[in-house]
Amino acid sequence: MNKKVYITRRETFAAAHRLFKPELSDEENLKIFGKCSNPNWHGHNYTLEVTVAGETNPETGFVLDIKHLKEIIKEYVISKVDHKNLNIDTDFMKEIIPTSENITTAIWTELADKIPDGKLYSVKLYETENNYFEYKGE
Ligand code: NI
Repeated sequence: MNKKVYITRRETFAAAHRLFKPELSDEENLKIFGKCSNPNWHGHNYTLEVTVAGETNPETGFVLDIKHLKEIIKEYVISKVDHKNLNIDTDFMKEIIPTSENITTAIWTELADKIPDGKLYSVKLYETENNYFEYKGE
């Protein structure tokens, strides 16, 4: 039987955001989004874990060269979010409220068709040490 192996690359990035709906007042946004609705932005140190699943190629012993996975994540995600404002700077977050849920699914969409070997299995995003958000493409 072919053995499926799950490989994970962890990256970190720092980004600013504001959770708000423009049609609501600052008070109403504060009620829904709490401190993350601060009108003058704030930042988080995020940790991202990207897992690819596949069978090991007998020629190389790799599912996908993990160095290549690192480069793909850097090019399509980290370069667009690290030290950026997610509401303004990040092309794949335009018009999306940058909650962790929405960042996680947007990163999935960015990466899903960029994985050359194996398949994207999960995207996990930690906004703090105590919370993480995971998407598996369903
Ligand atoms: Ni926040």
